[in-house]
Amino acid sequence: MRVLGVLGYPVAHSLSPAMHNAALRALGIPAVYGAFEVPPDLLPQAMVGVRALGIGGLSVTIPHKETVMLYLEEIDPVARKIGAVNTVVNREGRLWGTNTDWIGVKRSLEEAGLNLRGRRAAVVGAGGAARAVVFALREAGAEVEVYNRTLERAQALVQSLGGRAFPLSEISQASGEVIIQTTSVGLKSWESPVPKEVFHNFRAAMDLVYVPLRTRFLAEAEAAGCLTIDGLKMLVYQGAEQFRLFTGKNPPLDLMYQAALERLK
Ligand code: ATR
Repeated sequence: MRVLGVLGYPVAHSLSPAMHNAALRALGIPAVYGAFEVPPDLLPQAMVGVRALGIGGLSVTIPHKETVMLYLEEIDPVARKIGAVNTVVNREGRLWGTNTDWIGVKRSLEEAGLNLRGRRAAVVGAGGAARAVVFALREAGAEVEVYNRTLERAQALVQSLGGRAFPLSEISQASGEVIIQTTSVGLKSWESPVPKEVFHNFRAAMDLVYVPLRTRFLAEAEAAGCLTIDGLKMLVYQGAEQFRLFTGKNPPLDLMYQAALERLK
């Protein structure tokens, strides 16, 4: 029996165990996926434990996505460019880190039928989550504009990943194919970081927040006639890609989405 799991702090509300175990069960794969709650000061010991116990693979979440890189033998160039590892695979004792968050973003946009080549895309926020989003948008050929409360942070982001930086106060002048919300504003609260008038300038809107599933950002985007993409889509697609890396098999996507949705309720 292989052991897989999510490494984070906290992880009690993670949807990953439900999602991965549903897929493992459906495919009859002899593995279990657990939740490892590791405070930052114990991360070095935890990574020694991963090796000693022969844990097969990890999903890595907040606050370990950057620091986990110190404990790996190999890091995929894309993860290095994004500056975060959200997936670790134990390859016969050698730990390899990669990033599937950007793939989750890319697939969510593709599934919505958006072709971003040569089109403008606006990103709200410039934190860790925004980095994977900007990478995915640049890969899709979009012209990226990053709007952030702290302009310097947006400038630093576009300097390493490309695009143009603006203060969040200028968001009402933004327009393009899609606007993507990556801040924690709206998480468990009825708030949105952008005025609702801005949605008239976009064809689609995506929120990375999925608690609630229908955020104020998405509700106002929908009311303005935008196509909307919820944050659970990205979570499931990034998890599906991890599942492929862990097991070499294609997971049942609908089942993973349903399992995550069920756990969310
Ligand atoms: P994550 O890794 O989840 O992206 P993070 O790195 O802490 O988290 O980044 C949080 C993002 O949300 C930042 O872009 C932050 O803006 P600042 O760089 O100005 O701090 C943004 N953010 C958080 N609270 C916000 C608020 N009330 N209004 C606007 N932006 C906010």
